[in-house]
Amino acid sequence: VHNTTDSKPELFTVQSPNVQYTDSDITSKYTYRTTEVNVTDGKYVASPKETLYDFKTERKVGKVGLMLVGLGGNNGTTVTAGILANRQGLSWDTREGPRAANYYGSVVMSSTVKLGTDAKTGREVNVPLHDMLPMVHPNDLAIGGWDISGMDLASAMDRAKVLEPTLKGLVKKQMATIKPLPSIYYPDFIAANQEDRADNVVPGSKASLEHVEHLRKDIRDFKSANGLDKVIVLWTANTERYADIIPGVNDTAENLMHSIEIGHEEVSPSTVFAVACIKENAPFINGSPQNTFVPGCIELAEQHKAFIGGDDFKSGQTKMKSALVDFMINAGIKLTSIASYNHLGNNDGKNLSSQKQFRSKEISKSNVVDDMVAANTTLYKEGEHPDHTVVIKYMPAVGDNKRALDEYYAEIFLGGHQTISLFNVCEDSLLAAPLIIDLVVVAEMMTRISWRAHGAGEWKGFHSVLSVLSYMLKAPLTPPGTPVVNALAKQRSALVNVLRACVGLEPENDMTLEHKLF
Ligand code: NAI
Repeated sequence: VHNTTDSKPELFTVQSPNVQYTDSDITSKYTYRTTEVNVTDGKYVASPKETLYDFKTERKVGKVGLMLVGLGGNNGTTVTAGILANRQGLSWDTREGPRAANYYGSVVMSSTVKLGTDAKTGREVNVPLHDMLPMVHPNDLAIGGWDISGMDLASAMDRAKVLEPTLKGLVKKQMATIKPLPSIYYPDFIAANQEDRADNVVPGSKASLEHVEHLRKDIRDFKSANGLDKVIVLWTANTERYADIIPGVNDTAENLMHSIEIGHEEVSPSTVFAVACIKENAPFINGSPQNTFVPGCIELAEQHKAFIGGDDFKSGQTKMKSALVDFMINAGIKLTSIASYNHLGNNDGKNLSSQKQFRSKEISKSNVVDDMVAANTTLYKEGEHPDHTVVIKYMPAVGDNKRALDEYYAEIFLGGHQTISLFNVCEDSLLAAPLIIDLVVVAEMMTRISWRAHGAGEWKGFHSVLSVLSYMLKAPLTPPGTPVVNALAKQRSALVNVLRACVGLEPENDMTLEHKLF
């Protein structure tokens, strides 16, 4: 792999007494400005508050590996082929003419951030988000992982029916050399209709410490075989059923470890993967909706200061929802119902045709407007909520081209109504693959950022639960007891402004006073 990550010069530097660049780090002194509100007898007193932090970002990224759980699935093969195509700068013929490899759909690789205004012209200067801080270039990721189906990635890519035949032809040889590692398979957690592809499994059909150690060794072996500095692991395997949260079983780190030891039936494969990664200090991200991160698993991550993030890629219907509902409610329009239908024909749809797995997805898709509704006390009384229904049906013929049909029904001025009907064809894996890249690039970056109260004490990492990944996720996991933000614009601001803070820049406030006050 030709490594461009660490050899690329920084696109900009910040000139400020609060920012220092050394060979190894970028350090910023940052004033975090918030507003504290005191409520008495229904009256609010708002006081500006300032907290001083130091942030330190290691500049050297090093060699990074990505291990996917579900490597042979639609997302696994699509992201792998996509990275190979980008790495080699491939172009291929389609019926619409030639197409070239790109990272469209990746907020990190294909979106820009306003850096500031040009000193001479007063125009906006925008830079790729990827250039805000040192980040791994996805072309440089070493890729590997596990699948319960042993098919090599060339055949698995054919099975997925996602990519153009001309593109497949160009990456086929290389894809054929990649074979997923055997994985752990506990049949009760995924749909029974998946059984016929499970031909590549580690012996044992319930959780065990041997499984944890087996997966840890896989990570270490992958690391040493590829000369890597770190590995990020991401679950893009089948949606599992929910695990019951049972006191004494998975409520604390200690109980969870004991339950793994005795092979308790409520410990899922994804939780065993998470535990292995936490113990190996490899960040673990869950791209599916199930509750991998049971309370005991989160506690274990905190104890090991290991990074975890999830849940469920926010790619198509929900991404639209978290943008559209944000707009409607912030426009003062009273959304009263959302009816969401999906049909899809890929293996994910087949797995979700089973009730328990569908239920995981239904939960993940259902809570996505809660924060926006709760924030508007003018439109919604305490406890009032729009009706919200989610339906998913398996329709083999449409393959990976998922259809998402949504009706948004809202109350407007003086009892009138606005109805928005959306028909969204979500090329599922082509939307999810760039999100996988974003999650990995941002998670890796977070391993290199540390903070402290200004001038004082030890440098620390961010909290184990990486809520900064929320933009890419349907049901963002946040540190226990902290609020969940689903609104898309807020999620993006949080990400961008954390990056800005690390280089000592103020949040983008969009006031553009320089153009308003003459
Ligand atoms: P897929 O069914 O094509 O791929 C999943 C792969 O995981 C399969 O190859 C299967 O053999 C493998 N697998 C199952 N259990 C495993 C285990 N215990 N260990 C290792 N491998 C295992 O599904 P697809 O379309 O790639 O989606 C993957 C996941 O991402 C699903 O859970 C889906 O709900 C989730 N997701 C996908 C989105 C999208 O594609 N736009 C959006 C949101 C979530």
